[in-house]
Amino acid sequence: MADNADTVFDVVILGGGSGGYACALRAAELGLSVVLVEKDKLGGTCLHRGCIPTKALLHAGEVADSAREGEQFGVRSSLEGVDMAGVNKYKDGVVARLYKGLQGLVKSRKITYVEGEGRLVGPDAVEVDGQRYRGHHVVLATGSYSRTLPGLDIDGQRVITSDHAINLDHVPVSAVVLGGGVIGVEFASAWRSFGVEVTVVEALPRLVPSEDEACSKALERAFRKRKINFKTGARFASVAHTDSGVKVSLESGDTLEAELLLVAVGRGPNTAGVGYEEQDVRMEGGFVLTDERLRTNLPHVFAVGDIVPGLQLAHRGFQQGIFIAEEIAGLAPAVIDELGIPRVTYSEPEVASMGLSEADAKEKYGEDAVESLTYDLAGNGKSQILKTAGFIKLVREKDGPVVGIHMVGSRVGEQVGEAQLIYNWEAYPAEVAQLVHAHPTQNEAMGEAHLALAGKPLHAHG
Ligand code: NAI
Repeated sequence: MADNADTVFDVVILGGGSGGYACALRAAELGLSVVLVEKDKLGGTCLHRGCIPTKALLHAGEVADSAREGEQFGVRSSLEGVDMAGVNKYKDGVVARLYKGLQGLVKSRKITYVEGEGRLVGPDAVEVDGQRYRGHHVVLATGSYSRTLPGLDIDGQRVITSDHAINLDHVPVSAVVLGGGVIGVEFASAWRSFGVEVTVVEALPRLVPSEDEACSKALERAFRKRKINFKTGARFASVAHTDSGVKVSLESGDTLEAELLLVAVGRGPNTAGVGYEEQDVRMEGGFVLTDERLRTNLPHVFAVGDIVPGLQLAHRGFQQGIFIAEEIAGLAPAVIDELGIPRVTYSEPEVASMGLSEADAKEKYGEDAVESLTYDLAGNGKSQILKTAGFIKLVREKDGPVVGIHMVGSRVGEQVGEAQLIYNWEAYPAEVAQLVHAHPTQNEAMGEAHLALAGKPLHAHG
């Protein structure tokens, strides 16, 4: 077996997804020598099977909705149909351009890119096809996979995960979506825009159950209007194949028939069979445990992204990757506040949030120590122009800073940038209220909400 005993790199990274490649890019920027190992495609889930392709599908859905609804705006238009080959060409084109750009970046930073399946073979070494890469530091960045339930077999045809759903070659007539979390509601939304009869099945009492309850209610209202069916508090029991698709049985005894079943019940960490157990990396439920500086129990081994317990989001992976590179370079970066990570669900309407829900804030600060304010988008000119309904809800510690921002409405995801500044800078409503927000934008609603919470509502009732 070849052993590059002479070359010890500064950093060896196992996995080239959002967390892994961000770490590689930043480490190289800081002058460290870097090996980046990837068995599939550089960019990982986010670029090839997640964020980017799904958002392209959702945008195609938005275009379909605009064609269908033109008349509401006095524009004569109708939707002739959705050509999935055309949608896929558009989506794949977006991914291909970003992929090419990313490959160029990695190349230009002189990162040693190794294509192949890597394995942790020592506290300082990763092996790929018999070749050993040693590092003063190793970063585990192997990402996640679509989970399923016991007894629920994914066949890739009628019972599918998001991996298959992004590449459908036709628009299905109907679909059952198991799981009303982020993936479930995003696909339900895109498919409905394409004309699919969709039913979402969610075990917990509401859609997007990890969001503030008001967001779930508003999303459910909007979904009802869009004729997206959903059953909450409903647990999956079994699935059987029929001549035309699947028959899904719920624990309640109800059955649902559809052309296909999308399983969206969460993502599990890719940590089996990659040598972590053999090297005694401390894990729990398959996740790699780290301290707040993302160090595992092994002295020079870090972990990043979806394998680390917490939000499984690409932008968390990016930030953690940058953090680890800076930590290795001795820059002592500030610890990442997990609550300071923005969350966006890109359904129509979108749901976006920062910080604590009202319920969590009350639990943390006490029932009477929290104040909330909901600014209805009915008062926001641009939202009325777009004909979208929703709100911006602020949660603050009484006489203290804003600790939660929760939004529903078309395009509100774009407002999360300011929301995260407000949360992370622990801004007081009065401080945000004095900043000028451009008119007429949806962003103006952020300013208006803070004006109202500061006790001086403008386009809102006091
Ligand atoms: P999730 O955890 O968001 O939602 C899964 C849902 O399935 C939960 O609401 C859960 O209660 C439900 N569920 C579980 N077992 C069930 C059962 N037996 N019957 C009925 N319902 C059941 O996971 P999801 O949507 O699969 O997404 C995976 C990860 O990917 C998430 O962590 C998410 O943050 C990330 N992601 C983020 C996106 C974004 O930021 N826009 C987009 C897509 C995924």
